Amino acid sequence: MSPFAHITGWGMAVPQRIVTNAELALRIDTSDEWIQSRTGIRERRVASEDQTTASLGVDAAQRALDMARLKPADLDLIIVATSSPEHIFPATACLVQDRLGASKAGAFDLLAACSGFIFALNMGTQAIRTGAVKNALIIGAETLSRIVDWNDRNTCVLFGDGAGAFVLQASPEQGGVISAVMRSDGSGGDLLILPGGGSRIPATHKSVQAGQHYVQMNGREVFRFASRVLGQATEEAVKKAQLSLDEINLIIPHQANQRIIEAALRGLDFPVERCVINLDRYGNTSTASIPIATCEAVQQGRLKPGDKVVFVGFGGGLTWGAAVVVWSAPLPAARRVMPYRYRLYARLRSMIKRLMRRLDVLVWGRRNPYL
Ligand code: UT7
Repeated sequence: MSPFAHITGWGMAVPQRIVTNAELALRIDTSDEWIQSRTGIRERRVASEDQTTASLGVDAAQRALDMARLKPADLDLIIVATSSPEHIFPATACLVQDRLGASKAGAFDLLAACSGFIFALNMGTQAIRTGAVKNALIIGAETLSRIVDWNDRNTCVLFGDGAGAFVLQASPEQGGVISAVMRSDGSGGDLLILPGGGSRIPATHKSVQAGQHYVQMNGREVFRFASRVLGQATEEAVKKAQLSLDEINLIIPHQANQRIIEAALRGLDFPVERCVINLDRYGNTSTASIPIATCEAVQQGRLKPGDKVVFVGFGGGLTWGAAVVVWSAPLPAARRVMPYRYRLYARLRSMIKRLMRRLDVLVWGRRNPYL
């Protein structure tokens, strides 16, 4: 029988800096009252100058590995879901791989906007179910504060920075991620878009002057789409898992807007008490919102081993999806590992590799020693 993909470690990292609605109201034409009543958001975290999408991802990953008692070198696969990658390439996942010292892992980014974490969770699960991969690291990490226009009140009040990570491990025990659905509709691509900086509209003085390097959104249309698909995806994933909604202990939705979540719950006739909402403190952290909310739910004792939980998200693309998971505990570890020690090893290894590359050039010049 094919192995099951269990979530055996989880971790989150958010910047320390808190930006309240009142602080935003000092800079743009908005108010705490408007933001809270239309979205539920009170404050969000904003990365400091030295924090990046990869550094937040590494911090979250380290905690998840610590929880799973897994060495970075045990990882076979790293997927970073992000809407604010450090570069178009190299993948942010490769930067994370290097800093963790995950020397045996293949690493790539997955771009499905705010649904990215669900899609990555499903991809990691499928890789484990085939037997090709034993240990996978799934990260949602964002520094959206760098790609929003802080003068655009339609978008800047909504987003925040942060990261969350899950370790997925193969196990013969039934459970873990038991179903998932992924959907897309590219006809709505223009509703939530970062138009510039790609190959279609390369960065130029003109594109920057026009603000095309910032997130643009048709909020009303995204709202309508999201309220509809959140419930639909939940129902589909639950059905695929051969369960009924009554058997679901907790729903952890993408944290974009309290009104969207409440509308979806009403449609499902699902009690709001069995849903995790923490967007009041973090805003919309895109791919990071679901793993951050999960970490807090576990910490608060709202999610225990054996519980059945639905993760459900939506976002630009348009994309949406859901997964049903039987929550696990960390697998029994064969040995004690100290993941923080590996950070130092990883740094050293990376430095030595860079140095060797330079030496190679010094010794061989432009000649290729392999020819
Ligand atoms: O991960 C997915 C990411 N995106 C989302 O989830 C966004 C989904 N959409 C939403 O959450 C909501 O549509 C918003 C929160 C963006 C807007 O709420 P709304 O109730 O749909 O407001 P609206 O777009 O209908 O705008 C109402 C008014 C407009 O003024 P007029 O045109 O009626 O005069 C806006 O200009 O509110 C104005 N407005 C603001 N006022 C104060 C828009 N943003 C602000 C603001 N402060 N920050």
